[in-house]
Amino acid sequence: MIWSTLALAATIAVVQYPLGAAATPSPTRTTDVLGNIVGRGKEASSASSCFPALGFTMPSAVPSSTSGWWCSYSSEYAFVGISYEVTACQSLTTLRKEFKDIRNTFNGRYVRLYGACDRKGFYDDVIDAAWGAGIGVHALIWFGWDDPNIWKTRRDSLLGTLHSNPKAKFVTRVLQFGSEPLYDYALDPSTLATQVLNAKANLSSLHIPVTISEMAYGFQERQPDSDAVMDAIDLIDAHMLPFFSAKASTASASWPIVTTDINWFLDNGQGKKIYLSQNGWPSTTYSGVEPNSPSAVSNVQNEKDYFNLLDQKCSYFKDNQIGWFAHIYSDSQEPGYGIYGTNGALKFPFSPKTSC
Ligand SMILES: *[C@@H]1O[C@H](CO)[C@@H](O)[C@H](O)[C@H]1NC(C)=O
Repeated sequence: MIWSTLALAATIAVVQYPLGAAATPSPTRTTDVLGNIVGRGKEASSASSCFPALGFTMPSAVPSSTSGWWCSYSSEYAFVGISYEVTACQSLTTLRKEFKDIRNTFNGRYVRLYGACDRKGFYDDVIDAAWGAGIGVHALIWFGWDDPNIWKTRRDSLLGTLHSNPKAKFVTRVLQFGSEPLYDYALDPSTLATQVLNAKANLSSLHIPVTISEMAYGFQERQPDSDAVMDAIDLIDAHMLPFFSAKASTASASWPIVTTDINWFLDNGQGKKIYLSQNGWPSTTYSGVEPNSPSAVSNVQNEKDYFNLLDQKCSYFKDNQIGWFAHIYSDSQEPGYGIYGTNGALKFPFSPKTSC
């Protein structure tokens, strides 16, 4: 079930790329809901005095407010973290160990959650592990395909925890509705936009932004109705899976596919902060993870080459203030996408730049 999102993504790639028009990024940006400057040209704060900058030391006590707590969006470019699938309902011990690994081994600033764990108190454990590791979280309300209403239970549970756990607002960078709710038509777009606005209102006292996790194509195919969703979200968590493009060949040659979708977000994203939240290249194919191009190559070398390609484009990500996540932590979470194999060993050296 978890990787069927990617299977669905695969089915659309044939029509995805002709729609994207290469374009010049819009030159102006404003401030976000938190008042963070997201405008181009602002230098990243070099100080490690903000969360979750590398080198930041977590306080011994929970601060009284988030004022001055978060790093500027402009500093969050290049590699920012790793997607982490939670359907296994990892124990607190495992979450602590693996979040520290993401932080300390790879210099991750964020963990982006994927999938769902409905164990009571699970998000409290995520908060505990994130606080202990000094890492931020992109939280997720997972729709899934089994039960059309379970997302409401998940929403209420997560919103409840965000209010009840005093550390929640210090580690939760954004709440995502996902994954690919527009593309999957999990809700009709106007209802989805209303849900985003309701969640924003619910979280306004905590200053936690709200978004959806979605492909450019998900927005494109639902236009004009998806425009209300783009209006509603605080930042953009974009999916980038060029392997499924009808133009795909090797990962090293995929940059035009990547920039076509990024340009769409730069043109249509109203200057909102962009992260590539679900972003990678599979090392294997299987039912549901199959290319739409006969030339597309999936192997470990290409998985590695894709992240190397992004790493080589660090100045592009800096100029456009875009951060990218690696999808995903381990092959045991989603076959073929892991940085780690199912044997727990790294599939390839992985130490992407976090600044340039
Ligand atoms: C936020 O939503 C939760 C779950 O629905 C609810 O229990 C809580 O009262 C809401 N809080 C606010 C401030 O709206």
